[in-house]
Amino acid sequence: MGTINDALRGATDSQPDTIVAPWALNLVTHSTNTRLADDLTLVAEHQPPIVITALGSPAPVMETVKGYGGIVIADVVNIKLARKAAALGVDGLACVSSGAGGHTGYLSPFAFISAVREDFDGIITVGGGITDGHGVAGAIAAGADLVYMGTRFLPTVESLAPQEYKQMIVDHGPDDLIVSAGITGTDASWLRPSLIANGLDPDNLVAPTARNYDSKESPDKKWKDIWAAGQGLQTIHAIEPVSQVVDRLEVEYLAAHERFNALGLPTATRS
Ligand SMILES: Cc1cc2nc3c(=O)[nH]c(=O)nc-3n(C[C@H](O)[C@H](O)[C@H](O)COP(=O)(O)O)c2cc1C
Repeated sequence: MGTINDALRGATDSQPDTIVAPWALNLVTHSTNTRLADDLTLVAEHQPPIVITALGSPAPVMETVKGYGGIVIADVVNIKLARKAAALGVDGLACVSSGAGGHTGYLSPFAFISAVREDFDGIITVGGGITDGHGVAGAIAAGADLVYMGTRFLPTVESLAPQEYKQMIVDHGPDDLIVSAGITGTDASWLRPSLIANGLDPDNLVAPTARNYDSKESPDKKWKDIWAAGQGLQTIHAIEPVSQVVDRLEVEYLAAHERFNALGLPTATRS
């Protein structure tokens, strides 16, 4: 967090007109994160503008983050969790839907957004299988404010993922994924070839008795050598710089917008 803040300060010091988008810290708040109290001390010190809570309740971070004027977004995978988080006063919900990489969701993004919008007027972020600007436009049209994109940015030049991981995403499609609780104890979307490369049978994974999300404390090689991806990987064809990916996202988003505009509005609603 210090490195990020220093770099951003450096950028704005040298070019005061630079617009810096807010960055987010992702914090696992599940009880398996035994260092959460220490994490929160660092959060208070570095004050990330956005804190996204994952795999647990946002309750432990609310006081600290709201205390310095930060935004809390709770990562949720169902309506019950969304309502619980909303009741705690979070600023936003990250609705992780079916097709997401990593620990995935189950709901259709359309059903999820509509259901959450019924009684939540905060920020709705939706994620799951979105890898192009057409998908971004679809999410916005469906009622989301923001999208979450993980898989799309894994095979970029700047990504710290191993080269073989990046290439595996480029070379494979959604048929090569399996959703299983067999690695961490919670359903996640894994690349079948990486399971096989690590001597595992993707069709016969046995869930561990206890949830274990922390790659450093586990005897196996989850996240490090066993790789995850979301369903959008089919349309990723090369390892490219982030700037190129973002430029294409913009072109695709605008094309989707054009398509929508070209449909026109029925006369009755035009006024
Ligand atoms: C390799 C990988 C690691 C991830 N790690 C985390 C994580 O540590 N915390 C978290 O909240 N989400 C994590 N996610 C999920 C993303 O936040 C997001 O929900 C997901 O990537 C969206 O779906 P997409 O990959 O299809 O774009 C991870 C996703 C991937 C692919």
